[in-house]
Amino acid sequence: MIKQRKIAIVGAGLVGGSAALFCAYSIPGVQIVLIDLAPVRAQGQVLDLAHAAAIWRSAHFCAGDYADARDADIVVITAGAGVKRGQTRLDLAHINAGIIREIVDQTSRYAPNAIYIIATNPCDVLAYVVYDHLRLPRERVISTGTELDTARLRTLLSERLGVVAPAIYAYMIGEHGESAIIHWSGATVSGMPLESFLSRTGKELSAASRDLVLRSVVESAKMIKEGKGAIKWTRLSCRTFAANAVRLQLHSLAYNLGNFLRTLATPEPIKDWTLSSLKEKLIKIGAKLSPTGAT
Ligand SMILES: NC(=O)c1ccc[n+]([C@@H]2O[C@H](COP(=O)([O-])OP(=O)(O)OC[C@H]3O[C@@H](n4cnc5c(N)ncnc54)[C@H](O)[C@@H]3O)[C@@H](O)[C@H]2O)c1
Repeated sequence: MIKQRKIAIVGAGLVGGSAALFCAYSIPGVQIVLIDLAPVRAQGQVLDLAHAAAIWRSAHFCAGDYADARDADIVVITAGAGVKRGQTRLDLAHINAGIIREIVDQTSRYAPNAIYIIATNPCDVLAYVVYDHLRLPRERVISTGTELDTARLRTLLSERLGVVAPAIYAYMIGEHGESAIIHWSGATVSGMPLESFLSRTGKELSAASRDLVLRSVVESAKMIKEGKGAIKWTRLSCRTFAANAVRLQLHSLAYNLGNFLRTLATPEPIKDWTLSSLKEKLIKIGAKLSPTGAT
């Protein structure tokens, strides 16, 4: 008999709700528990999600407390403060690190064997905080990392090269956010290395264009914030942009989360260069490192 998968999502806000929907879409028969500081919000999400999922997949949703996360295979953390105008993701580290430690103290009691997926920002730093706090094997704590940045990159390259985004394999690497970089030498288009594709098709991607693509990926988070803010201002001209912005911000992340969870991918071991930059950030927020600082 196939075991029914159980996913606990802590944080039933915009990201948590979207993640729940795409998980239900990706994993037939999955059981999804939504937990939030505001139980009413989780209950509202569950009602809405159950109606949406009824049309295409069977999934079981419930709003609960930490005891309902018992034996969850996966815990997804989307709870916490978001980046506000004028803030960087790192500015959230202090506040969200405290929130996340309290959350995982609870989830680890009820779901000791779960794999953790961390979306709350700064997601890479907080994944390390969870890893360090719970002392789990590193393959059981996964940050959503540069998934979203990568989705933005593929969208931009698709527009520039005139090739559908799913045929483009190009990755943003490093830490989610302002410091991420493009792994140009590993990029492929329709199965060909990017440079071969460019010379075969006569298309160009100059150094200046590449720089612009990078800046656009990094800046798009701010544009998205502007777009979402525009919803409140109810300016008609901003509505389409806002809708696209929300779709890009949430759906690409949630879709990738869904895929992520379906495959239960094991990440590559953390590389030293990533680790040292994370260590600097962790020291700034006063996180506890092991005596050797090793993983
Ligand atoms: N990793 C990524 O690529 C990515 C993309 C978008 C957003 N995010 C991050 O995801 C997080 C959530 O964003 P959002 O837009 O869903 O925010 P939101 O405000 O819509 O939802 C956050 C939810 O967390 C809940 N919450 C807060 N503290 C809690 C606690 N201690 N226990 C349980 N629930 C708690 C709140 O009640 C709220 O419902 C933010 O940190 C945001 O920056 C990450």
